Amino acid sequence: MKTPNSAKSASGLRGTYEGAAADYTVAQAWERYTPEMHDRWRRLYARQTELAKRHAAPQILSGLAALDCADGIPDFARTNVLLGAATGWQLVAVPGFIPDDCFFDHLANRRFPVTNWIREERELDYLVEPDIFHDFFGHVPMLLDPTFASFMQAYGGAGRRAIAMDALDMLARIYWYTVEFGLIDEGFGLKAYGAGIVSSAGELVFSTEDAQVLRLEFEPVRVMRTAYNIDRFQSCYFVLESFDELLKGLVDLDFGPIYERWRETEPLPAGEFHDGDRPYRGNLQA
Ligand SMILES: [Fe+2]
Repeated sequence: MKTPNSAKSASGLRGTYEGAAADYTVAQAWERYTPEMHDRWRRLYARQTELAKRHAAPQILSGLAALDCADGIPDFARTNVLLGAATGWQLVAVPGFIPDDCFFDHLANRRFPVTNWIREERELDYLVEPDIFHDFFGHVPMLLDPTFASFMQAYGGAGRRAIAMDALDMLARIYWYTVEFGLIDEGFGLKAYGAGIVSSAGELVFSTEDAQVLRLEFEPVRVMRTAYNIDRFQSCYFVLESFDELLKGLVDLDFGPIYERWRETEPLPAGEFHDGDRPYRGNLQA
């Protein structure tokens, strides 16, 4: 998620906020990417697509195939033609983290902010802030799926109310455990669709194969009440049966009373099983 962060690096393209518009958008400046940057993208892309074939949701795989961006850092102008025709979404370039209200406004208007810089060579396996590889490879394929695309817009719309009700932490946990670290089992095995997983070599395998980690069936209120890890693999994952379930979870629920009931309480620690939880059994049952 893109939340405000004052820690900005001055190196290269990273975090250049000067000249950004009021909505924090900047030009992608595609022509400024060097051959080394495109080569880094190609290597990241090749590694992750190989893992994704086994562990990622089919929507990720079909999205990546349609985006056709194995050969170098994609030009958003080209991507936007495809995205616009498929679901009406558009990518906008941003320098990195942007304020929450601005982020929600982009989503509510089917604009997805994508960081315009790529990680350094030493950050191939891990980086703190999202870069263009995380934002594009992890998030954009799902924006081609009509149901997920509608969910993302609805999530943006929910943001304003969460801010007004001082319940942003609760809503942000929905994003974290779905858009970033979500798993799904539509009847043919456990697969990842969350961008934080899909763009991570280690967590793509861990989240779908580890026999010990807690996996629960998706339940929106439980998700909103669960803390998460920001600097290591998740201790808990929530598993959808379908993306319709995700969209319905956001559209059908009245979040107001839920915020009022839980916003003052400490979240449940990640990784703890509680009464009433529905464990995901799926393909790990054997
Ligand atoms: Fe992300």
